[in-house]
Amino acid sequence: KLTKVPQGSLTRTALSGSNLMSEHRAEKIQKSKEVENERRKHNLVDDPSSRQSDLNYKNKQDCLSAWERSRNKENIEYGKRTSLPIQAQRESLPVFKMRDLLVDAIRDNQFLVIVGETGSGKTTQITQYLDEEGFSKNGIIGCTQPRRVAAISVAKRVAEEVGCRLGEDVGYTIRFENETSNRTRIKYMTDGMLQQEVLVDPLMSKYSVILLDEAHERTIATDVLFALLKGAAARRPDLRIIVTSATLDAEKFSAYFFNCPVLKIPGRTFPVEVLYSQSPQLDYIETTLDTVMEIHINEGRGDILVFLTGQEEIDTCCEVLYERVKTLGDTIQELLILPVYSALPSEVQSKIFEPTPPNCRKVIFATNIAETSITIDGIFYVVDPGFSKVNTYNPRMGMEQLIISPISQAQANQRKGRAGRTGAGKCYRLYTESAFLNEMMPNTIPEIQRQNLSYTILMLKAMGINDLLNFEFMDPPPRVSMVGALEDLYNLQALDEEGKLSKLGALMSQFPMEPALSKALIASTSRGCSDELSTIISMLSVQSVFYRPRDKQQEADNKKARFHHPYGDHLTLLNVYNRWRDDNFSKTFCVNNYLHERHLKRAKDVKLQLVGLFKKLRLSISNSSGDVDVIRSTLVSGFFRNAAKRESQTGYKTISDGTSVAVHPSSSLFGKDYDYVIYHSLVLTTREYMSFVTAIDPRWLVESAPHYYKVSDGESESRKKAKIVPLHNKFSQNQDSWRLSSLRQTKEKA
Ligand code: CDP
Ligand code: MG
Repeated sequence: KLTKVPQGSLTRTALSGSNLMSEHRAEKIQKSKEVENERRKHNLVDDPSSRQSDLNYKNKQDCLSAWERSRNKENIEYGKRTSLPIQAQRESLPVFKMRDLLVDAIRDNQFLVIVGETGSGKTTQITQYLDEEGFSKNGIIGCTQPRRVAAISVAKRVAEEVGCRLGEDVGYTIRFENETSNRTRIKYMTDGMLQQEVLVDPLMSKYSVILLDEAHERTIATDVLFALLKGAAARRPDLRIIVTSATLDAEKFSAYFFNCPVLKIPGRTFPVEVLYSQSPQLDYIETTLDTVMEIHINEGRGDILVFLTGQEEIDTCCEVLYERVKTLGDTIQELLILPVYSALPSEVQSKIFEPTPPNCRKVIFATNIAETSITIDGIFYVVDPGFSKVNTYNPRMGMEQLIISPISQAQANQRKGRAGRTGAGKCYRLYTESAFLNEMMPNTIPEIQRQNLSYTILMLKAMGINDLLNFEFMDPPPRVSMVGALEDLYNLQALDEEGKLSKLGALMSQFPMEPALSKALIASTSRGCSDELSTIISMLSVQSVFYRPRDKQQEADNKKARFHHPYGDHLTLLNVYNRWRDDNFSKTFCVNNYLHERHLKRAKDVKLQLVGLFKKLRLSISNSSGDVDVIRSTLVSGFFRNAAKRESQTGYKTISDGTSVAVHPSSSLFGKDYDYVIYHSLVLTTREYMSFVTAIDPRWLVESAPHYYKVSDGESESRKKAKIVPLHNKFSQNQDSWRLSSLRQTKEKA
């Protein structure tokens, strides 16, 4: 039914590489939103999309009695502060009917699996039920989320429902951000944070209940927590573990947790009609935009949810669609365009939950975060191009890459389901039915089977778990990636030749970041440049601070060039931060220099946390007064594996395995001709690009990692053009002696 659309001018290549004007657009959205809010004030009564639940209650008395039914007396004080419509909303959720059953099941069982459609109230309600029933008297009620945004947005919502300020009774913790206090009873957090907590408190003694939410996402952290919490529960009969899932993996989870009971929350779903594309689409962005316009012009009321793969695509689509709608002016109904992705400021994000104003349609461009982690009401149409960005570990290159890949059938069905929450809906699949049936995999592969495990294995080793092969993974990772991770950690000297955790490794495990970064950070404390390194690493761990509006690219680039350090991007980042600091962290500085103030502020927070960690671990904080050699050689101590040597005018080859790579055009080293560089990561677009590149002296490679590199035979280190080659390192030579201690069991199993 979906007709093939003519190919437009916008192609995938046109999209890559450009940094789009998200703030500019956010401003536009803000403006249109203000106008609409004005309108809404006068029109509230006949707002068609106002929450249905409000309508179920004829009068205040109805609400009040419902309210009292759901609360025990001690909590009434909160009730006074809670607005009634919220309470009515809470009671309209499918999970509410199961409230008593759920609470009893949790009381009676140490493990419980809960399955329910997205939006049935699992995440926001179950924690509150348990709190209302007194579970929090014996410890915090913790709830993990695979995504940061979900943790924050859900915590906000629940704080609102409970009637407290965020961070008081209800709070959240994500990496480098802690919004909790000593009175927090309900705590949302990323699964990675809980994984970090388990390291220091294997019994989870602060918690009474832990809800492993969104377990179907099968993130590494959740998978590892499955096993670790099983262990904690064995030693703590009072601890309760709840696993929730939106799909029907329930039996598998139940089997893993000693065949624990499975509770199903009956869904409230409507049929969704699926429309497939009749032929494969070459350019899904263009098709997506056309489909959205088609729906907006021809279809009845209801909002549209579009699944794209990432921020860049989403920003572009919002931008292009905005322009198209503007050109059409009053000839069509108003269209409110909203983006949703993790890096979005939370003010913009919370807008997606606001009801759509009357006489207006909302279209939301989202990453797969909207598949299950967050629920947006009022969606009638889903547009699914069939792709998502998947973080995939490439064992050959020893690194992770974000690759745009086809989704699984399970994901496609999950996306489709988003259209059937408020009424019968439609799902536009921008791929053929045969692609769905024959090319898509039935289920998504768990992260643990496709990602780099270095950090995870370091953590487990730090917890004293040496026998990784008998570790109770629900789905064990492939042997090659375990060996790869062990090798990685050995090369970083976090493990010794016997595969045991070294002193350095123990210290590294305290830092919630990839091992190469923690290694460089720790090295900086003994080399007298930890102040500078912590700045650089903070800047690397936030979104790009450079703002490049489309209409002022040249000017923005010129400003950026003024920060460029001749030796490359790491020192450039240091420059930006230090100059901002010297300007008293001012906003004007950011505006004048085309810098994202929000990202810089976050970098400042991260730095503060890192300095706190240094203090806690009694590591010294020191400044080398900008000694660029000390700083760069310290970076090399973490990133020596990411080294490349120049081969031609523009091309480099990685030293460890000879992959052809190039300096990314956005790098300050673009067009410079240093012989040896290190890079932070590789980005695969039209070719393999190095991003965040710094020129180095090759001798530092051998100095930092004599077990990894050597100066090639016949040439001396002092010669300027010394050739550095990878040592086919001890790991592989020695592997039998220590790999055995870690890996013997797999061999036996296999
Ligand atoms: O976890 P589950 O998908 O079962 O549902 P939930 O996240 O608890 O959402 C229940 C309801 O709360 C939905 O109707 C959401 O729209 C609403 N909600 C919200 O208004 N704001 C949030 N930040 C999160 C949820
Ligand atoms: Mg949820």
